[in-house]
Amino acid sequence: MTDTLPQIRIFDTTLRDGEQSPGASMTHREKLEIAGLLEEMGVDVIEAGFPAASQGDFEAVSEIARQSKSAIICGLARSSESDIARAGAAVRLAARPRIHTFISTSPVHMKHKLKMGPNAVLEAVGRSVGQARNLVDDVEWSAEDATRTEFDFLCKTIDAAITAGATTINVPDTVGYSHPQEYGALIRALIEAIPDSDKVTWSTHCHNDLGLAVANSLAGVSNGARQVECTINGLGERAGNAALEEVVMAMRVRPDTLAYRTGIDTTGLHRASQMVSRVTGFPIQFNKAIVGKNAFAHESGIHQDGMLKNTQTYEIMRPEDVGVSDSNLVMGKHSGRHAFRDKLASLGYELDPDALNDAFRRFKALADAKKQVFDDDLVAIVDEQLSAEGERILLKRLHIVAGTDGPQTASIEVEIDGASHTAEASGNGPVDAVFKAIRAVAPHDGKLDLYQVHTVTGGTDAQADVSVRLNGEGIMAVGRSHDVDTLVASAQAYIHALNKLEARRRKRMAA
Ligand code: KIV
Ligand code: ZN
Repeated sequence: MTDTLPQIRIFDTTLRDGEQSPGASMTHREKLEIAGLLEEMGVDVIEAGFPAASQGDFEAVSEIARQSKSAIICGLARSSESDIARAGAAVRLAARPRIHTFISTSPVHMKHKLKMGPNAVLEAVGRSVGQARNLVDDVEWSAEDATRTEFDFLCKTIDAAITAGATTINVPDTVGYSHPQEYGALIRALIEAIPDSDKVTWSTHCHNDLGLAVANSLAGVSNGARQVECTINGLGERAGNAALEEVVMAMRVRPDTLAYRTGIDTTGLHRASQMVSRVTGFPIQFNKAIVGKNAFAHESGIHQDGMLKNTQTYEIMRPEDVGVSDSNLVMGKHSGRHAFRDKLASLGYELDPDALNDAFRRFKALADAKKQVFDDDLVAIVDEQLSAEGERILLKRLHIVAGTDGPQTASIEVEIDGASHTAEASGNGPVDAVFKAIRAVAPHDGKLDLYQVHTVTGGTDAQADVSVRLNGEGIMAVGRSHDVDTLVASAQAYIHALNKLEARRRKRMAA
């Protein structure tokens, strides 16, 4: 029985390291929504943000802490006094608060980034952990760039952190440089070398620059780590972090080789993945392990034949184990409000009456436009509705003239802070015309970095899933939208990105 296996703590940093991905900014409400789902799924530690980074980050961490019930809520802090005080204040109201403080320990970081010598770094470790311990009982300390740090110095800093009261020691592979056997050996060597290593929980934090983040994290677990830091969809700096869904399912599917368990309700994984993708605007790679659209699709005749005879021929886990519903074909235009509400509940959405009415109206419009409405369609419309709440610029109407006889033109009406504005533009194709019309009605200097179209389901009447990335002087924002009309989805995705870009700018200016 897997219930008797030792439990690995899952530490999710989607809201902190994940949000550091270029373009992956999240609003206050989106962060609360994600934190709520993570807690519901049984995530042990939620790193809710970096409170000293901005007032917005501080408020999000404080509110997540206030609303938390069972999860440990963690705020990140550099080793400065002000950062640690800010993190302590933000997590204060959590049922189980944690401060996570860190400093770089590798020669290259100490010399070029910190401009500090080893003795000063060592002194900062003791001081920062001591200050954090005066604020909360649960303190995590990280040696940033640990995997490129000299082993003896790494031991000294970890010793200092434990002596000052750290309860968790995190060993980040900050630049994703390690190979699994090397990372596992490092964790083992540290545990063997540090006298009080049994008094703390050892943690992994692996970046994915070489595509080895999950393998490294699991190697860490095999060698004594009991906490894994990870993110939904592997979001994070550069190539991202270890993907939570992959780490969790690797343990669940193979307890014979990795005899540990997690407390995660894996049926929430698909929904969490969709939610993070919707909020950040980052599409999920089709062949992404566990949560990709093709993760459970069988295309070749030989595979399909095998699956029909026995699903175990080609399936090592069941789609429903990760929350992919079996009865995917759902509803049509005759489905009523009750069935709609029940279906949303089965997909994990409890909407208030106004939001439910709005979602039902959108569902009816979609069911008019498309014969069959699938679960993924419903998730797309509800998620989109939730992420559009509170946006300054809203699309009201779009009319396009396109075809062989050009020029292609778009006329648009948007609402900005409640007031209606209209514009018209022609362009090199209808998408160009739509984007030019948006620029005319809401002038801005963001440059279009990416425009991408997929479909939510199959069929020519499928909803288009459009992503747009805007770059405003180094600040990136990704918008995403769905509609049976690709041009409407394109306009909405663009406006969504623009709303995010402006919100991000305001946040940066306030900081
Ligand atoms: O990658 C890293 O080193 C980090 C630390 C702040 C833990 O994110
Ligand atoms: Zn990191």
